[in-house]
Amino acid sequence: TIDVSGLVDRENGLIDRSVFTDRRLYDQEQARVFATSWLFLGHIDQLQKAGDFFTTFMGEDPVIVTKDKAGRIRAFLNSCRHRGARVLRADYGNTRAFTCTYHGWSYDLEGNLISVPNEDGYHDADWDRANWGLVEVAQLETMLGLIFATWNPHAVPLDEQLGDMKWYMEAFLDRDSEGTTVVGGITKWVLKGNWKLAAEQFGTDWYHVNMSHASALMVLSPTGRGPKKEIAETPGRQYSDEHGNGTGFPTHPKSRFDAQPVHQYYNYAALTDRLGQARVEGPLTTGHATVFPNFSYLPVNGSIRVWHPKGPDEMEVWAWTVLDKSMPEDVRTAQRLYNLRTFGPSGIFEQDDGENWSEIQAISHGWRTNTIPLNYQMGIGSEREDGIYPGSTSTLYSDAAGRRFYARWAELMNTPAWHEEQR
Ligand code: FES
Repeated sequence: TIDVSGLVDRENGLIDRSVFTDRRLYDQEQARVFATSWLFLGHIDQLQKAGDFFTTFMGEDPVIVTKDKAGRIRAFLNSCRHRGARVLRADYGNTRAFTCTYHGWSYDLEGNLISVPNEDGYHDADWDRANWGLVEVAQLETMLGLIFATWNPHAVPLDEQLGDMKWYMEAFLDRDSEGTTVVGGITKWVLKGNWKLAAEQFGTDWYHVNMSHASALMVLSPTGRGPKKEIAETPGRQYSDEHGNGTGFPTHPKSRFDAQPVHQYYNYAALTDRLGQARVEGPLTTGHATVFPNFSYLPVNGSIRVWHPKGPDEMEVWAWTVLDKSMPEDVRTAQRLYNLRTFGPSGIFEQDDGENWSEIQAISHGWRTNTIPLNYQMGIGSEREDGIYPGSTSTLYSDAAGRRFYARWAELMNTPAWHEEQR
């Protein structure tokens, strides 16, 4: 293993570029960050009845997420216990059993091996089907409509892992007593770039908005000239915590990019009763967030996404549109289209971000380039508890959450994981 202490300097806000490019660090990340953390799997609405399933990834591990006969959500490694083929190749569907297409071993919704062709052939061996069920995650929890799981039997409960971050998430996911729902399926695309470039940006980076998205802001602004100075330099706060979670949001009342029908739909007085003024004026507006390590969301667009790592140089983005269940059909449509136009794979904002990440990744393998540390110093010393927003917050234009994201990453990278003694 590699000691990463010299690569992440939280105090001085310096990050070594090898964290994005080094294959050995990437492999260590799979074993120590993805194998130990709570990871986002999907939305509870994707599983309505027994036998409904969808497939996704935890780090690079393929998983099946399903509802068993008792209505419990379960998640299993999507790899057959025989020769290791993927048991399920579909993205989603409904089934009574998971049957491997290689030799036909079959597993029930609870992960038990229930059928083995030519099973007589095993009778000379010390054969017991009960020993060959699908490998299940160690813990699975749902929270605010989202499904998270971890391979780590010792992971602290999800609530504890999220801490004050949950207060901010509720401003997006608990606006409606009916909860949220997903519409329009999952959009998936591949980007050149290390997954952390995206995760850290969503956690910490409001700074890029006025420059990277200048043309998009011009298109959206009523004057066609982009936002006025007071909005471009909007006040706001950025939350960060020791678990690596981060979110930022403007607090200027005009600094919103809502779809108009969604803006008109909301009863802000009722939302203030439900969530309090600080949340309605802050994290419910246009903002950004990352739940460590690779789940991110944008409250105003209703976009939730996961940055799946696919090697040090590539990520796969999976994005959903999440909206309030009570929204009427026309408002739902407006929000879904708005999300696609702004943050779909060809969205006017998404294009700017992907271009930045791919550009950084493309040059980072250069020998000299790779030796020059990157600057994460903005807002050093601005973190405080202000009595309005829970936990530690800093100015909106700040790298506070970025510093904590990498500090958490380094802490996990330097700590032997739960599985290392068992191997
Ligand atoms: Fe699945 Fe052989 S690999 S049955």
